[in-house]
Amino acid sequence: MVTRLEAHFALERAAPPSGNLAAPRRLLASVHSRVYPSLAPSFVTVAPSRPSAASRLNLFSRHLDSKPALELNTPFSTERSAHLEDDQGNVKRKPRPPKTTTPIGPEIPKKKTMSNQPPHPALLIPGPIEFDDAVLQSMSHYSESHVGQPFVNVFGDVLSDLRTLFQTTDPASQPFVISGSGTLGWDQVAANLAEPGDEALVLHTGYFADSFADCLETYGVKVTQLKAPIGDRPQLDEVEEALKEKKYKLLTVTHVDTSTGVLSEIKALSELVHRVSPETLVVVDGVCSVGSEEIRFDDWKLDVVLTASQKGIGCPAGLSILMVSGRAIESFKARKTRPTSYFGSWKNWLPIMQNYEAKKPSYFATPSPQLVRALQTSLTQILSRPLDQRFADHKAASQKIKKAVSDLGLKQLASKPENQANGMTAIYLPDGMTPPDVIPSLLKKGVIFAGGLHKEIATKYIRFGHMGVSVTDPEREDITRAIESLKESLGEAGYKA
Ligand SMILES: Cc1ncc(COP(=O)(O)O)c(C=O)c1O
Repeated sequence: MVTRLEAHFALERAAPPSGNLAAPRRLLASVHSRVYPSLAPSFVTVAPSRPSAASRLNLFSRHLDSKPALELNTPFSTERSAHLEDDQGNVKRKPRPPKTTTPIGPEIPKKKTMSNQPPHPALLIPGPIEFDDAVLQSMSHYSESHVGQPFVNVFGDVLSDLRTLFQTTDPASQPFVISGSGTLGWDQVAANLAEPGDEALVLHTGYFADSFADCLETYGVKVTQLKAPIGDRPQLDEVEEALKEKKYKLLTVTHVDTSTGVLSEIKALSELVHRVSPETLVVVDGVCSVGSEEIRFDDWKLDVVLTASQKGIGCPAGLSILMVSGRAIESFKARKTRPTSYFGSWKNWLPIMQNYEAKKPSYFATPSPQLVRALQTSLTQILSRPLDQRFADHKAASQKIKKAVSDLGLKQLASKPENQANGMTAIYLPDGMTPPDVIPSLLKKGVIFAGGLHKEIATKYIRFGHMGVSVTDPEREDITRAIESLKESLGEAGYKA
C-alpha cells in the first residue's frame, strides 16, 4: 500500500526537468511504477544513493522520529513503508495475503442480539461504530433525484433534527451537512472562518490537534499549539495566559481526542474565551463526541461544532456535519478575502442549506441521498429518547468499562476522572505487552479494538470505543462481551491481574 505522501513524492521525482519534452506516457509509466511497485515487477529496489522513504517523508512529517510497530499509515506515521525498506533503502516485498472469497475473521455465532446483519465481530473501535439495522436499511433506498421534493424534504428534516441534537434553538445557528468525512469540517473552518495570516490557538490533547493545526496552516493560518502532557488537557489558566498574549481569530479544541480518550471541558473553556478574548471564535472538534457527550451549543456559546456521521451519530461514514453560530456566519460574511476552498466554501453551501431547510430544491454539488436518509434514520432514533438519557447511558457504560479496566490493574491514558471521555477508553497495556499481543485474540472472540494512535506511545496501548447502539441497544451484548474478552485475551498473553 502506498500512502498519499509517497505518491506525491513519486510524482515530484518523476517530473521531467524543464525544457525536456518527455513523452507524457513515459512519465505516467514512471509514476505508475513508483506509486504501484507491485504492478511493475522490474521496480523493486531504490538506488542506495537516494534518501530512504522515511527520511524523505521526514522532511514534512513532524512525527517521524521513531518507527512504531503498528501497521497503520497516517500522514504522521509511515511505519508500513518504513518496514518495507532495509538499511540500504532496498524495498522488501511483503507477501500478498491469499485471495479469499469469504469474509476475513472468525466465525461469530449468529445471535438474536446481533441484529439481522450477517454475523460479524462487534466493531468497538472509536469510530466507525456498529450500525442499527434500520440505519443500514435506509442506505438501500431506491435511486431518487437529489433535487426531487421527497429527498429535499428529508434533507430539510435532517437539518432541523441537527438543531435538536446540538441543542440550539437560535434561528441564526446554521447546520451544514456536506459529503465528506470529519476532516472536511477542519477544511471548512480554515477556508471560511480564517483568512491567510490570521492567528489560531489550537488546544492539544492528542493526535487530532496536530492534524487540525496542520490543516489550518495549509490555508495560511498562523497556529500556536498549547500542548498538555499525554493524557491531560491544557489547564484554564494556561489558556487564559495564551489568550492574553495575542489576538486569536479562532480557538480550537478537540472535545474528545480519539488518540488519547481525553475529554475537554468545553463549557468552562468557552466561558473563559468569552471573558478574556470575546472576539475569538470557539471551534469544537466534536468528531468523537457528538452523540455520546453532552453538548449545549447555545448555552455554552459555541461558534462551531464540527463532526462526522460515523461515530456517536451511528451512521455510515461519508458526511461532514457542522453547527455554526450566527456570529460565526457574520464573521464569515465580513471576510475581506474570498473563501480559500471551492467545494468547502460556505458561499456555495450556505444558500443551499437554507433552501433545503425551507424544503426548496437546490443544487450546488450532488449530495448522497442514501447517506442523508441513513442520517435521518439515526437522528430520528437518537431523538426519540431524551438526550440527557442518552448521555447518561454512555456515562454508565463508560464507568462500567473504566471500573473493569482498573479492576484488571490497568491504567488509562486519561488518568484524571474529569479528563475521561464517555464514548471511548484508551487503555495502557501491561508492561512489555503490545497491541498485537491482544488485538488478534480479541478478534477471535468477536470483538474489534483499535491499537494506539498517539505517535509517542502507540505501541503501549489499545482503544475501546463504546458509542451508539453498542451502548444504547439493550439487546446487544457488545460491551459485556468486550470486557470479558479483554480479560481472557490478556490472560492468554500471560498477564495476571
Ligand atoms: C477527533 C477527531 N477529529 C477529526 C477526525 C477526522 O475525521 P475523519 O476521519 O472522518 O475525516 C477524527 C477521526 O477519527 C477524530 O477522531
